[in-house]
Amino acid sequence: MSKSAQTASPIPDGPAARSGYEGPYKIRLAGYRIGEEELEAVREVFASGILTNGPRTSRFEEVFARRHQVDFAVAFANGTVALTAIYLALGIGQGDEVIVPSMTFISSATSVLHAAATPVFADVDPDTFNLDPVDVARRITRRTRAILAVHYGGQPADMDELQALADDAGLLLLEDAAEAHGAIYRGRSVGGLGKAAMFSFTPTKNITTGEGGIVTTHDGDLAAALKLLRNHGQTSLYQHNSLGFNWRMTELQAAIGEVQVGRLDTILAVKQSNAARMADRLRSVSRVRPPTTLSDRRHVHMLYTLLLDKDRDSVMAAMASAGIETRIYFPPAHRQPIFATMNANLPVTEEVSKRMLSIPFHSLLTPNDMEEIASALEAAVTSGPEGLQPGPGDTEGPRFRRP
Ligand SMILES: Cc1ncc(COP(=O)(O)O)c(C=O)c1O
Repeated sequence: MSKSAQTASPIPDGPAARSGYEGPYKIRLAGYRIGEEELEAVREVFASGILTNGPRTSRFEEVFARRHQVDFAVAFANGTVALTAIYLALGIGQGDEVIVPSMTFISSATSVLHAAATPVFADVDPDTFNLDPVDVARRITRRTRAILAVHYGGQPADMDELQALADDAGLLLLEDAAEAHGAIYRGRSVGGLGKAAMFSFTPTKNITTGEGGIVTTHDGDLAAALKLLRNHGQTSLYQHNSLGFNWRMTELQAAIGEVQVGRLDTILAVKQSNAARMADRLRSVSRVRPPTTLSDRRHVHMLYTLLLDKDRDSVMAAMASAGIETRIYFPPAHRQPIFATMNANLPVTEEVSKRMLSIPFHSLLTPNDMEEIASALEAAVTSGPEGLQPGPGDTEGPRFRRP
């Protein structure tokens, strides 16, 4: 193993130093850990003469499946088409409903539309921002076919409770694990907790291939159907037995992905230690609630999302002037114009979406960076305009329970 693999160190002044976000920031929201091994893997692909549909994709799938303790993995061009492919392969479409959270990236919901089915939004838990099983139960109708559990920010959703609901109602439980590579739920790896799971590899994720997605499943027939959908329904050269797409991942991405899987444990260890450090540091800072991490699961902190009891715009502005990028992950999907006519009633999602803020948390950040972020945050919440006024139904005392 080369030195870069052992240390997983970024290339000095190379691509790892860039986050993909432009702006006047000293500390950026995202940063990827790419080293000589990825570059070498890409060189090998070019030298091989096979740039798509080749052995690197199969190898990446095997390595990813093994790492997530599932039998099959099928790589895709990106996570959104991977999700859509799951619905198409399972025969979920016109007239069917899929229950999804709104506190997520838009394509958790739009991928359902791409399959001609209807997303139905359910509310989330105010502490973890994951689907609230009690609210999910209320949204089940005779049209419901599946529940899509998003592991928000890298913390597994309440899969046992959701599986029990799915079993009772004869539904499929699916995972949107786009943000959760390597996460663990009650001793079991995400990716194999439901019928199928999707992971994404965009540059903000804990591991990246630039763009990319993968579906994991224990079901061999489903994996075979996904492979056909990915490649024009082609069973042998120019023999097309079913309708498919070009949703293939390139060999270049797959080669990078294989190396990235090898780095995952190092990346997660850095995140774990930075998360502990940050939670400790923020304990004494009022008006900021660090992420809740539940003891029966491993949160992989793709995001580090705070809840603020303070005017968020002023905090974001103060952080920006300190050279630190922050972002709202996510403006709720049901509030997007594309879903405006649905009039979904999601009080918890509405409430948390007004107060949440994500700070930089990628694995290249050092303890000094953590301290700089925390100090800037402390200064931002203790100066400037007063915090938000209590809203209707708010009770006395601290707005948020501390984990
Ligand atoms: C929760 C969630 N779902 C779906 C996606 C879509 O994945 P992609 O961007 O690879 O299409 C993302 C990430 O971008 C995501 O964070």
